[in-house]
Amino acid sequence: MSNIFKKKSIPLLLKEAATNEGGLKKTLGAWSLIALGIGAIIGAGLFVRTAAAAGEAAGSGVTLSFALAAVGCAFAGLCYAEFASTIPIAGSAYTYSYATLGEIVAWIIGWALLMEYALGAATVSIAWSEYLNNLLGGAIPYEWCHSPFEHVNKLAGTEYIAQLPQELMAMAKNGVVILSDSELGRLSAELKIQVQTTSGYLNAPALGILLMVTLLLIKGTQESAFINGLMVFLKVAIVLIFIAIGWQFINPDNHTPYLIPEGVENHEGVFRHGWGGVVGGAAIVFFAFIGFDAVSTAAQEAKNPKRDMPIGILGSLVICTVLYILFAHVLTGVAPWQEYEKAGKEASVAYAVNTYMHGYGWLATGITIAILAGFSSVILVMLMGQSRVFYSMSKDGLIPGVFSDLHPKFRTPYKSNMILFILVGAFAAFVPGSVAGDLTSFGTLLAFVIVCAGIIVMRKKFPDLERPFKTPWVPVIPILGMGVCMFMIIALDISTLEVAGLWMIVGFLIYFFYGKRNSKISEQQESAEE
Ligand code: ALA
Repeated sequence: MSNIFKKKSIPLLLKEAATNEGGLKKTLGAWSLIALGIGAIIGAGLFVRTAAAAGEAAGSGVTLSFALAAVGCAFAGLCYAEFASTIPIAGSAYTYSYATLGEIVAWIIGWALLMEYALGAATVSIAWSEYLNNLLGGAIPYEWCHSPFEHVNKLAGTEYIAQLPQELMAMAKNGVVILSDSELGRLSAELKIQVQTTSGYLNAPALGILLMVTLLLIKGTQESAFINGLMVFLKVAIVLIFIAIGWQFINPDNHTPYLIPEGVENHEGVFRHGWGGVVGGAAIVFFAFIGFDAVSTAAQEAKNPKRDMPIGILGSLVICTVLYILFAHVLTGVAPWQEYEKAGKEASVAYAVNTYMHGYGWLATGITIAILAGFSSVILVMLMGQSRVFYSMSKDGLIPGVFSDLHPKFRTPYKSNMILFILVGAFAAFVPGSVAGDLTSFGTLLAFVIVCAGIIVMRKKFPDLERPFKTPWVPVIPILGMGVCMFMIIALDISTLEVAGLWMIVGFLIYFFYGKRNSKISEQQESAEE
């Protein structure tokens, strides 16, 4: 019977990485890797969750929340950097754990990464669809940009709107009011108002962006990296412009007091005010950092991975942390944090510009375009990362061989890209976006915990391995990394943990019925290693 803890031999992995005969093309330099990291990192987390964290938990202290979340990510980032420079091969955390902790742990990681990258890409493509519709002034019919599990209640006509209570009347836009289900229930009993309820068919724009990105990925890594570079340039430029112009509109009163004081209504909980609120805010903005690890999935395509992998991973993390803190400082300085709880909750950045930065309407439009570009690059790097993890899992026999077939000309895993499009597309077209965000965080955090543990094991079992980059203070840094990430896992919603548990059970079934039986790693290889 095959051993579920058997390991891949590190010398063999290094040989595979060195020969790479007929394998993935080596086209990425240090800057491309940093751009890849920033491409995956800056997205919905910054543009949507910053205001949410300020309004719900941290107030102006959301800057500190970013710093805290960054420290947590830095622990894991340092461990990723050591692995990526020592074992520079596609597959990232999956491959590292195969070499250090054994096949079953590698499978768990592979399955968790599917949650991070595939569900992450689906979530962001749904957000992309929302923003596109926003940019087009709502021109896409509701049915065609929402999943069948979503619906909207619309009340149109001035004569009906006039019958509404004052606060609902005030929400009318172009003669239409959107009502929540509970408002609708209350009103239809009292006023006998006829309301039109529309359900979604499928989210077509989300499918559209996924298809475009898939085609680009099939065309080639270098082409994808080039387009990613353009999108990264655009989004970073807009973030910098917002910081520079917004800085002049900061009202110091909005930053005083810096943290949400005790006794504010709706902020009674431990994680909703003061320093507790800063921690609560960190859990919310953690999503904004997801993606720096995606750099390591491209290790096999890096020209000089031993030097450039740590630069790519840690460089993108540092650049984004600085931008995030400055951005959050300006956002909470331009408008009071209380407004991000109410009027400014949606499209918060555009709200702050339109309300407080008079004469800069163009910036609000620019931000929406940057958000679309930003989301596209997140999707691109996530899908690329996922196909590279599948590539490695398939080479090892844990999933079918079709996932590692390379295109004869482009040398990209094109079949895997197409299958992923169908999987991720089905999710994006038919499932509401809210379901996937926290699952993405779960998958990421689990991968971080295992990578940190892997560093400790690798230092013990392979002390003499050449390590171009060494994580400092082992085992302190990996233990701190595990602690912070486990803490954030526990802080996730219970329903998220339930769905994640179910996901893992399905994963185990596939492993025991397929992966374990088809694994190509032989027992001999492991015994040679011991
Ligand atoms: N960090 C990525 C984002 O913010 C996932 O969209």
